[in-house]
Amino acid sequence: MSEEVMRVEHVSKSFGPVQALSDINLSVSRGQILGLIGDNGAGKSTLIKILTGYHQPDGGRLVFEGQPVQLKSVTHARSLGIETVFQDLAMINDLPVYLNLHLNKELVHKPLPFLRRREMKRRAREALDAIGINIPSVTAEVGQLSGGQRQAIAVARSVYSGNAKLLLLDEPLAAMGAKEGGLILRLLAQLKQRGDIAIILIAHNYSQVVDVCDRVNLLQHGEITFDKASKETSVSELLELVHAEYRVNTGT
Ligand SMILES: Nc1ncnc2c1ncn2[C@@H]1O[C@H](COP(=O)(O)OP(=O)(O)O)[C@@H](O)[C@H]1O
Ligand SMILES: [Mg+2]
Repeated sequence: MSEEVMRVEHVSKSFGPVQALSDINLSVSRGQILGLIGDNGAGKSTLIKILTGYHQPDGGRLVFEGQPVQLKSVTHARSLGIETVFQDLAMINDLPVYLNLHLNKELVHKPLPFLRRREMKRRAREALDAIGINIPSVTAEVGQLSGGQRQAIAVARSVYSGNAKLLLLDEPLAAMGAKEGGLILRLLAQLKQRGDIAIILIAHNYSQVVDVCDRVNLLQHGEITFDKASKETSVSELLELVHAEYRVNTGT
């Protein structure tokens, strides 16, 4: 049933003397959410940056839709349908929602460079409705929205291109309250339901990870040390794994 979108094979990456990743193997399929957890410095963001074409791996390879691929840049990755929601979101706060949704892909009347505002508003409303994001008005400035709503718009923008096949989210729930986080988790669950894209989610809240993700991988010191289906693990097992590492490191 599952159709693999991205497979990571034996990927390694160093920064000078720091071995950020060694021999990483993972796989994610259409309609699936893979949760990636691990302490600060474990290598989670480095892995996401390799998948998004920002860093090149030192060793190993990526297999995208069954074909080995060398991602040359973020633009190259995006052209293949690999979209990333970065932590800083790249939103322009004093522009309205509908223009943020069209950032760098504004619709213009050719040959005159007038923005097709009405059409962009209509499409923005359609895109937000399609994935169940409740924003009162697409003409509201993004700066007036809550963190969760901004994050939701960033996710909508990533999948809005219509071409998204792999969505990467690096800690979208950090610094967000339970209600706000719930908004994003419901949105991810909706995208999963649609079944056409694969999602990798980095998050710290294990109960949210267990709830929304199909699988959980734990990254420790640049290696995946744990890989289980969410329904075969639990928050207490994940906490125990991470605390066991903590006890070893601190000698307590
Ligand atoms: N651009 C970089 N230059 C040098 N070291 C880096 C760079 N990016 C990450 N690192 C190092 O690689 C390791 C993994 O970092 P990172 O992937 O950001 O971890 P995480 O996202 O799990 O907190 C850390 O030791 C970090 O200091
Ligand atoms: Mg990180």
